Amino acid sequence: MKVLNFGSLNVDYVYQVDHIMLPGETQSSTQRNVFAGGKGLNQSVALAKAGLPTYHAGQVGNDADGEMLLQVLKRNGVHCSLVNRIDGPCGHTFIQVDKDAQNCILLFGGANRCIDAVYRKEVFSHFSAGDVIVLQNEINDLDQVIDEAYEKGMMIVLNPSPFDAYLDRCDWNKIDVFFINEVEGAQISGKETAEDILAWFREHHPKALVVLTLGGAGSCCMKDGQVYRQEVIPVTAVDTTAAGDTFTGFFMRAYLGGQTIPEALALAARASSVTVSRPGAAESIPAMAEL
Ligand code: RIB
Repeated sequence: MKVLNFGSLNVDYVYQVDHIMLPGETQSSTQRNVFAGGKGLNQSVALAKAGLPTYHAGQVGNDADGEMLLQVLKRNGVHCSLVNRIDGPCGHTFIQVDKDAQNCILLFGGANRCIDAVYRKEVFSHFSAGDVIVLQNEINDLDQVIDEAYEKGMMIVLNPSPFDAYLDRCDWNKIDVFFINEVEGAQISGKETAEDILAWFREHHPKALVVLTLGGAGSCCMKDGQVYRQEVIPVTAVDTTAAGDTFTGFFMRAYLGGQTIPEALALAARASSVTVSRPGAAESIPAMAEL
């Protein structure tokens, strides 16, 4: 079994601010750092650090930024031979992190949104039934990627983030595992509480396994209609970026390794508590040995 993560790679420009900007406001930041990120890259790093054989597919620019992103994947044990380099800018973000470690993210797709059918065909030629694909909503033609993975007979894991209208084009009945946070859960279902969000999934996608992260309120998972809960592990939060990506990688490691849902939730909670205690995205994700 191989894990293919077909997803974004971004350069994250992270600004420390007193508070998240208001419309029309100008504010001085107190610090700026540049990190490797992108939900795709972060999840690949988490999957690989958790111990899964992880192959990243996606696109970067043919420049120093692209090289930096590739090096981060390689350094963390992700197979990178499928990553495509194109003429054009890498994806990047502007991230504000406030004094309570909350963030907000402005995304520029760049190379992540220039993926074509020829490249997709080449990527999928390396995978077969029983392999796993992990997806987020930061690349173009996500609906096609889902359809092609389904035709291959792969297990499909979707983190529908960021949530936007494009996701309506995707056939969610083909998804085996969803990872969503409380904000996305509310946007998707129109419901507010975790119970109601899970009830919506139970009604609309009864066969899917659903993992719902709830920030400081912990997380829960619904499998075959049964709901399991996990409390957060208290730490001093510095930067919550990539907490959800870490959760995805470590939960999948435990789940694919045959551990129980409570064990998978507990491992993922421990891993993401370490991530929020350190600055940055991919580089803040712990190694399995640290846990
Ligand atoms: O999930 C965190 C990631 O979202 C950041 O690294 C940023 O690049 C955005 O894609």
